[in-house]
Parts: sequence; C-alpha cells; structure tokens
Amino acid sequence: ALERTFSIIKPDATRRNLTGKINAKFEEAGLRIVAQKRIHMTKEQAGKFYEVHAERPFYDELCEFMSSAPVVVQVLEGENAIAKNREVMGATNPADAAAGTIRAEFAESVGENSVHGSDAPETAAVEIAYFFSGIELVG
Ligand code: CMP
Repeated sequence: ALERTFSIIKPDATRRNLTGKINAKFEEAGLRIVAQKRIHMTKEQAGKFYEVHAERPFYDELCEFMSSAPVVVQVLEGENAIAKNREVMGATNPADAAAGTIRAEFAESVGENSVHGSDAPETAAVEIAYFFSGIELVG
C-alpha cells in the first residue's frame, strides 16, 4: 500500500554535508520526499520526540546529540514506505548494517547513526504530526 513514513537526517550527517547523498538513496529506492525542512531542535523538543526511550541509559546522550546541530525532518512516501525506508537505512548499529545502506556507508556509531525512520504506521503518524502540519504535506 502507498504509505508515508517519518525520517530525520541527524546532526552527524548534516555536519558532514551528507543531506544530498542520503536523499539520493531515498529517491533511488522509490521513496518520494513529500515534505522536508531543516530545523535545530532544543533538547526539550528532542526529549519529547524520543519520550519512549526515556528510561534507556542512552536517553540523555541521545537528546543532547539530536539538539547539537540542525537536522532535516522529512516525510517519505511510497509503496511500503516504512519497511522500504528501514531497508535503505540499514541496521541501527552501523557495524551490523548491510553493505550499500545509509548507515553502512555514513553512520559513525550506534548513537550517531545518520538517520532515524519510523518503525510502524502508528508511530509514523505521531512522528509526522509532531513536526508537520497538514498544509505542509504536498503529496
Ligand atoms: P533512532 O532510530 O533514532 O531511535 C532511537 C535512537 O537511539 C537510535 O536510532 C540510536 O541512534 C539511539 N541508540 C540506540 N542504542 C544506543 C546506544 N546504545 N547508545 C546511544 N544511542 C543509542
């Protein structure tokens, strides 16, 4: 089915000018970038986005990192966009990511892993609504 997923190009990637190379991977995989903006989150905004991880030992480090520099937040659309995006990203830990995936090519560590992507339709809807209003979504 035609789906939408939410994506973030993280600070480690924007710092290294990798936005275009990462977007090329999405587009080559058939994902359409239907909304996109560059923002610099506060630590509080990152904290609310990653609230589900609040009890994890890496939570503070994660929120600190995600607010350390600008990110690019995006909505990607395509057939099975959620699974397709996860395939293009590769495993969370770049050491485990398949060759050719974004994390295999660009990620620096499990924390500084270049991209975030929604894991399910329910989380995609919540994450999209956190950053975008309806009028910004131009299919
Ligand atoms: P993401 O998909 O953005 O969702 C939660 C993030 O937590 C995950 O990607 C990783 O970047 C980060 N993360 C997961 N495990 C660790 C860890 N052990 N140390 C630091 N960050 C982590």
